[in-house]
Amino acid sequence: MQLSKNTNKSIKMTIKNICCIGAGYVGGPTMAVIAQKCPHIKVTIVDINESRINAWNSTNFDELPIYEPGLAAVVKEARGRNLFFSTNVEQAIDEAEMIFISVNTPTKTYGAGKGMAADLKYIELCARQIAKVAKTDKIVVEKSTLPVRTASAIKEILTNTGYGVQYQILSNPEFLAEGTAIEDLFNPDRVLIGGDTTVEGQKAIQSLVEVYSNWVPNEKIITTNLWSSELSKLTANAFLAQRVSSINALSELCEKTGADVNEVAQAIGLDSRIGSKFLKASVGFGGSCFQKDILNLVYIAKSYGLNEVADYWEQVIIMNDHQKRRFAKNISTTLYNTVAGKKITFLGWAFKKDTNDTRESAAIYVADDLLNEQANIAVFDPKVNEKQMLADLDYLDSRLPQENQKQIKAYDNPYEACHEAHAIAVLTEWDEFKSYDWQKIYDQMLKPAFIFDGRNILDRKALEKIGFVYKAIGS
Ligand code: UDX
Ligand code: UDX
Repeated sequence: MQLSKNTNKSIKMTIKNICCIGAGYVGGPTMAVIAQKCPHIKVTIVDINESRINAWNSTNFDELPIYEPGLAAVVKEARGRNLFFSTNVEQAIDEAEMIFISVNTPTKTYGAGKGMAADLKYIELCARQIAKVAKTDKIVVEKSTLPVRTASAIKEILTNTGYGVQYQILSNPEFLAEGTAIEDLFNPDRVLIGGDTTVEGQKAIQSLVEVYSNWVPNEKIITTNLWSSELSKLTANAFLAQRVSSINALSELCEKTGADVNEVAQAIGLDSRIGSKFLKASVGFGGSCFQKDILNLVYIAKSYGLNEVADYWEQVIIMNDHQKRRFAKNISTTLYNTVAGKKITFLGWAFKKDTNDTRESAAIYVADDLLNEQANIAVFDPKVNEKQMLADLDYLDSRLPQENQKQIKAYDNPYEACHEAHAIAVLTEWDEFKSYDWQKIYDQMLKPAFIFDGRNILDRKALEKIGFVYKAIGS
């Protein structure tokens, strides 16, 4: 045991140049932190999207393409020293010993597996590009969440199309959550690295272990085989999403029975076997990962004929869709069965607080349902602009873009957004919503003034005292 450990260490490749393909929510912050913590490694992040790269290179740190608390400071420290953003993909591949693939893997919108399987066309493009350029041995690291056994496809492309150089494929899934990405990267619960069980595979694993060892304690760096690593990422997200759907399922029962879901969550969360995190009832989970990864899991299970396994996990998504639809329906029903021509104000559009990311945000689906009922929607989100909101709605393709434009309007000021509204709906749990002057908002609204708190963040007693009709989730 000791011997093989030492052997691995002595033959590992020391990394001096890292390239990351994909300067998105995952690639950007992850590589910025690696660069900050490893000043001896040159880290180059490349992307085909030139305007995104320009934004990463902006001298104004408020213009970075991604909003994440703490990110600007990390980029400020490392950029130009050993962190570089570029569109020159080929040069960065050529220089690097280790290449991270961090491109997006959206759910397929066409062909076999449409609406379920991950679209791997960008991953394949990356593999082909690496094969075209690489003249020296490379370690290729999957950072994107991928279906199990994608590594073998990448390896096949690399070895069959390249110049005969050696490749090792590693899976190093990202567990950071948006809004806390920098903190999660600084102090990860664990770092997971999967690789081949061969000597060469173990050597590649050790090279990446060495990179993370610059700031992550060794006992938190776990190594597994490739498939365990890939499946662990999907499983982690499926379990987290399942907790949200479980508490949301109970929230509906609480509303019928007079129980309070916050009290139930607190009571069960104190059981150390259950734990207190991820028990917050809400209007439904969003984000780029949960739905996509579960659909992926369901698709994989079905492809192996494991229908019960597939149905079990699919229910997590079905429950989440129900929760979003139920929230929209409750607004219409409470407003005397019609919202047509009424001003409904959304506080929040992002899928969670402290991010400008709106992918799969519950707000999009709730808005879509209310727009079908011909409501006028006013939105205030501290970090999301109207262009993004319209793009999100247009993507659903429920009506013409002009109609979306007519029915929805973003505001820069929350008080103006709420002016003469029939109802307010809280869609994102931004902290600032709690400290608004609610009396002032109430005075300017139509009466009865309704609040639908999709995040259970506001103070029911205080609001009811002012005169609001306050509706929470699960109580
Ligand atoms: C990530 C992960 O990689 C994905 O697997 C996970 O499930 C969600 O999060 P993320 O960083 O959030 O993706 O995606 P995104 O912000 O869309 O960034 C991906 C970047 O890759 C984009 O900037 C895109 O321009 C770039 N890209 C895509 C390339 O540079 N080359 C390509 O061929 C495709
Ligand atoms: C998730 C995983 O947490 C992370 O490990 C993985 O790498 C990527 O996917 P992210 O999507 O950024 O991260 O955010 P997360 O904090 O997990 O929240 C996901 C959604 O669930 C949000 O819409 C959030 O509001 C919702 N949520 C979360 C709840 O509704 N209730 C909860 O108790 C927790």
